[in-house]
Amino acid sequence: MNPSSSSPPAFAPEAEFARALDERDPLARFREHFHIPRSADGREQIYFSGNSLGLQPLTVHGLVEQELKTWAEKAVAGHFEAATPWYNYHRSLTEPLAAIAGARPSEVVAMNSLTVNLHLMLVSFYRPTRERHRILMEDCAFPSDTYAVKSQISFHGFDPAGSHRVATPRLGEETLRAEDLVQLLDEEGEKIALVLLGGVNYFTGQAFDLQGITEAAHRQGCLVGFDLAHAIGNIPLSLHDWGVDFAVWCSYKYLNAGPGAVGGCFVHERHANNPALPRFSGWWGNDPATRFQMHLLPEFAPSPGAEGWQLSNPPILSMAPLRSSLELFQAAGFQALHEKSRLLTGYLEYLLRRIPAGAYRTITPGDPAQRGCQLSVSTKVSPRALLQALQNQGIVADFREPDVLRFAPVPLYNRFEEVWRLGQALHEAAATS
Ligand SMILES: Cc1ncc(COP(=O)(O)O)c(C=O)c1O
Repeated sequence: MNPSSSSPPAFAPEAEFARALDERDPLARFREHFHIPRSADGREQIYFSGNSLGLQPLTVHGLVEQELKTWAEKAVAGHFEAATPWYNYHRSLTEPLAAIAGARPSEVVAMNSLTVNLHLMLVSFYRPTRERHRILMEDCAFPSDTYAVKSQISFHGFDPAGSHRVATPRLGEETLRAEDLVQLLDEEGEKIALVLLGGVNYFTGQAFDLQGITEAAHRQGCLVGFDLAHAIGNIPLSLHDWGVDFAVWCSYKYLNAGPGAVGGCFVHERHANNPALPRFSGWWGNDPATRFQMHLLPEFAPSPGAEGWQLSNPPILSMAPLRSSLELFQAAGFQALHEKSRLLTGYLEYLLRRIPAGAYRTITPGDPAQRGCQLSVSTKVSPRALLQALQNQGIVADFREPDVLRFAPVPLYNRFEEVWRLGQALHEAAATS
């Protein structure tokens, strides 16, 4: 079963088949590196909400504990004398993050949280003019992005009603067609200052053709940024080679770094060393060589690369968990994870298709290249009752209005048998509703 081959894999609906896949799974052992939450009866939950909050790697506790100990024992000296000195702690994340983002190390930095980073990027990359002031987003973008974008448009003295352009799917369709986005760019590109899309849409699970969109947008002179909250650690990314201008992400979903964990940011190197770009500055973005020359009149001298957009000294306790998770990504290898991901999600899709028509409709694209691990399923069964029925069986998923349940089988810790159990539970719920 080769997920990258053109023919779809041959699945079977029996539990034995799912168990056999687990037995043959070269990544199965990675599940043992995570805490699996348990239900009230003590059994391990079947957790499909890694698209909301990833599970905790076992080594997180030790890494956070280590920093607490250093703080207790060394206090301020920890900045330079900790095992990983706090002064440059963020750099311990750079290489593995760059690998996952398909970036050069100088193009990425772990900092702040997603919406903060988005604002910082908009300050630098949204430079509206009377002729070119629109920001193009996808329909159903994550609300925080829309709030950020509209507030930036207003901040620049434009009216969001005229400058916030939303690309909508065709009538009767749930997801955007790549050719429609390209056509929109061809027709309206000269009025669009910035294209800002979710790499994977949080609601539909649709993964966009980030390379194609970047090329089409650049042909029209637009800049391009992506919200990778649902993409990073989920789908393969080559931000540098695709020429993306900037990207932002959070680390609490597929990067398993814990609630509110430090976010991340990518700035393409062609911008990253351009001191003429406007930016909101802070001392941590200043060149480390002169950062502490406080006796001189401080004139901001940005660090080269994405680090130049940092504002504050890094939150060590929030960064430590990310190190744990990135080590697991490195050990597993992203290509192998992606191949398993396609199989896991393909299997769920297969099982959903076997349920008699009418109860469920998968709105995530069927083409594996147009999705990550998440399937969003519109249901005729009362979604809240369904969610409850799943919960009663220890299955964790979530619900988004009006009728969509989201399931994200995550290759680092989910099993094929769990997907099979979900299929069974959905089947039973449809039969009894
Ligand atoms: C797609 C997307 N964008 C933005 C956000 C907001 O992230 P933050 O609260 O870290 O700013 C989220 C949060 O879940 C998200 O899913």
